[in-house]
Amino acid sequence: MQDISDISGGVKAPRHLAIIMDGNGRWAQARGKQRISGHKEGANAVRRVISACVKYGVKELTLFAFSSENWKRPALEVNALMTLFVQAIKKESKSLKANGIKTCIIGDKTRFPSLLQDQIRKVEELTADCDVMRLNIAANYGGRWEILQAAKKLAQQCQDGTLNINELTEDKISQNLDIVTDVDLLVRTSGEQRISNFLIWQLSYAEMYFTNTYWPDFGEEDLLKAFDFYNGRERRFGMTSAQIQEKTTK
Ligand code: FPP
Repeated sequence: MQDISDISGGVKAPRHLAIIMDGNGRWAQARGKQRISGHKEGANAVRRVISACVKYGVKELTLFAFSSENWKRPALEVNALMTLFVQAIKKESKSLKANGIKTCIIGDKTRFPSLLQDQIRKVEELTADCDVMRLNIAANYGGRWEILQAAKKLAQQCQDGTLNINELTEDKISQNLDIVTDVDLLVRTSGEQRISNFLIWQLSYAEMYFTNTYWPDFGEEDLLKAFDFYNGRERRFGMTSAQIQEKTTK
């Protein structure tokens, strides 16, 4: 991982960046390779992008690594992905800690092999106090599943009498999700333009950037293009352009 003392060159990065890392399989197929070699190369892209996000001052990075639907893939690919996750977490733990990256794995972890669950616990404990950037890796994750978990927790509180239903607010729902903060910029690689059940609550006001680049080829330059796009957008949050300009000149 690159040294975080590198200068960011004045680039304005989004606070919370989310990425749907897509195109590993097609990257491999285009080279006559097995799909898993695309995932391995994808892991290198993950390292590059984490490093660049720290360098440019992103405060929260959420990566979609494995959706609840990905279990439907051939067993060979799913097993290879599990092994890759274990190896990547093991290999990168010290570097994540050294660079101040608080690492959290979000999603239903109960279905993962116990070796992977152990590695997840270890890296989460090791980096718990880090505060340079928060890295969320969404694994066996689905946005509707996440909202359902929050709904169950809140319903339980209403039933216990610790929460009055009239005090239920959007903020309360946000606070009970795994990812509490809204996403500022969503990037999806490989030319697909879908949300695919990723962070459906937190993406409400996000800017969306789609690129044809396959994930294994994605790097710092591509990230800067996405930031450039983001900086060129006017984020109105439902207001008019004139209202936004008035607010920014005040
Ligand atoms: C989507 O490409 C990618 C995945 C389902 C797996 C993502 C995993 C990695 C990037 C590996 C390492 C990750 C971490 C966090 C260490 P795809 O297989 O759907 O590609 P395709 O659409 O071209 O078939």
